Amino acid sequence: MRIHSVRVLSVAVVTGLLVGGGVAVAQAPTTAKPAPAKPAPAPTAKPAPAATTKPVANLAQVMRGILFPNSNILFDVQSNDPENFGKKEAGGGASSTFSGIYTGWQVVENAALALDEAATLITIPGRMCMNGRPVPAQRADWTKFAADLRTAARAMYKAAQAKNKELASDTTNDIAGACENCHTVYREPNPRCVVP
Ligand code: HEC
Repeated sequence: MRIHSVRVLSVAVVTGLLVGGGVAVAQAPTTAKPAPAKPAPAPTAKPAPAATTKPVANLAQVMRGILFPNSNILFDVQSNDPENFGKKEAGGGASSTFSGIYTGWQVVENAALALDEAATLITIPGRMCMNGRPVPAQRADWTKFAADLRTAARAMYKAAQAKNKELASDTTNDIAGACENCHTVYREPNPRCVVP
């Protein structure tokens, strides 16, 4: 009996979410009142996760929004001291973006992690290139180029954790190489994103 009443409640909540807007929100508290005696079991909240995996940006937008800014923060390691990143002394490069919020080697860590995650983002099926062609994400060479970026990003993260300036600076070459190797095959030819 109790289980049944819990189910009715969760259906009401889910419907409220789907309908959205002010009306559903206003109704929620009255529907929810009988609940406190027996909290709903967690597995009933099924519908949410499915919607999150579909890509929204085209590949060029992912490059501009994530790979470009974060790799430039890392490249700054070559000419500025990461200890000063995010501080006034940083020298005005990409690493001084959002000065004073995250500082020092953590800026390098964050950018390395962003590139590590980006390596996964560029292999999600269903993303398009700017010219409307699908990202060739199923191709073995594409997967390898993305994996090389991930490996370089991970090495960069470790160097940042160790606060090893020389290693971090060297590793920026691996990052740049990982970008370049894929660009030679898929970005530079016109049209882009064509299987060679
Ligand atoms: C696995 C392949 C691959 C890797 C790795 C890669 N790129 Fe790209 N990149 C592309 C392709 C393909 C395009 C063309 C995208 C399009 O036209 O939609 C592109 C385009 C770009 C652009 C131009 C976007 C525009 O305005 O047209 C920039 C900037 C860029 N990449 C930066 C980077 C950086 C920085 C890295 C490394 C940190 C990197 N990319 C790694 C494949 C890759």
